[in-house]
Amino acid sequence: MQRGSSPRPQPWWALRREALLAQAALGTPRYVYDLASVRENARALRGLGALDRRFYAIKANPHPDILRVLEEEGFGFECVSAGEIGRVFSLFPKLDPTRVLFTPSFAARAEYEAALARDVWVTLDSAYPLRHWPELFRRRALWLRLDPGYGRGHHEKVRTGGTGAKFGLPLDALEEFAAEAARAGAMIFGLHAHLGSGIFDALHWRDVFARLAAAAETLGTVEALNLGGGLGVASEPELDPFEMDALAEVLAQAKALCPQYALWMEPGRYLVARAGVLLLRVTQVVEKSGVRRVGVDGGMNALLRPALYNARHEVVNLSRLGEADDGQFDVVGPICETGDVLARRRRLPASFEGDVLLVATAGAYGAVMASTYNLRDLPTEAVLDD
Ligand code: LLP
Repeated sequence: MQRGSSPRPQPWWALRREALLAQAALGTPRYVYDLASVRENARALRGLGALDRRFYAIKANPHPDILRVLEEEGFGFECVSAGEIGRVFSLFPKLDPTRVLFTPSFAARAEYEAALARDVWVTLDSAYPLRHWPELFRRRALWLRLDPGYGRGHHEKVRTGGTGAKFGLPLDALEEFAAEAARAGAMIFGLHAHLGSGIFDALHWRDVFARLAAAAETLGTVEALNLGGGLGVASEPELDPFEMDALAEVLAQAKALCPQYALWMEPGRYLVARAGVLLLRVTQVVEKSGVRRVGVDGGMNALLRPALYNARHEVVNLSRLGEADDGQFDVVGPICETGDVLARRRRLPASFEGDVLLVATAGAYGAVMASTYNLRDLPTEAVLDD
């Protein structure tokens, strides 16, 4: 989708160039997060008036300062591991446990036990835990993750529904699951579906709602529906932004249709992607067989998304912001893999050793997916707060 004629608002990082260059001087690769931008995104989601509760999928970026902002903004936290639950309670020891969702995938029994001991909401992803450890769920109100048979999202690796994906209980297994829950003395309080990440069409959530509401009708005990996360964030300035108004409309219609169900959502990316940038320093500029490459000091070890999903991120030379471009370059990292390419065929000004490159929209699934591959240090992280 191409953006219309409206001028692009300046991103926060263009306005904070000096502060970011000062951050880069402290060492690269370095992620920098703008907390004002996290707050702004949180407020956009608070504008979804039909939602009863909002949770932040902390896997996108569990930086403590980001979690603090979102706690203040009234968000709960969606966690997928004992580690994520531990992070949340170590930051907020007095947090109401019903502000935490545990939505694991193929987790070990001990992880469920730890979550249940905390009294957080637990979501089952299949019938296995109930069938094999029924005693854990006696007299518990549970969530169940459903797979309506299809996935959505920016890349096949992030589509979490359909027969090829490991997540969720197929709809045709619901009746049997309900019988097992009854036998175990557990109550199905909520139904959940998260079908993928990087979705721009708001009608997706209308379909999810329709499927969950239909399933809830057959059960009779359900009080809440969690429509998941997945809200897309445009990877480049010329692309259309996510249409929050369209989502607000879809949710309002859903609420009007079935006011008996509380509506919950759990986005990750939307809250943090644009709030983060990755700063890298140019190591070498090399031309080989007609391809010019700008080398930087962090690659797939610092930001895996381009190598893993062919994800596109805007890249600018922060040291030379506003200078005319000098043709096309590939931006490559220092890792010994051919796939270690952060950006292909990008227009950049002539770049030189020591320049700072900025990778935009890197606040979600960036630092948290970094590795020490090739025994390189993990990127550092910092926040800017007004
Ligand atoms: N809820 C559940 C159960 C999830 O598994 C996820 C993300 C979310 C919510 C939040 O989705 P979001 O709003 O952030 O799209 N590493 C990939 C994305 C993987 C998403 C995993 N699950 C990427 O960099 O694109």
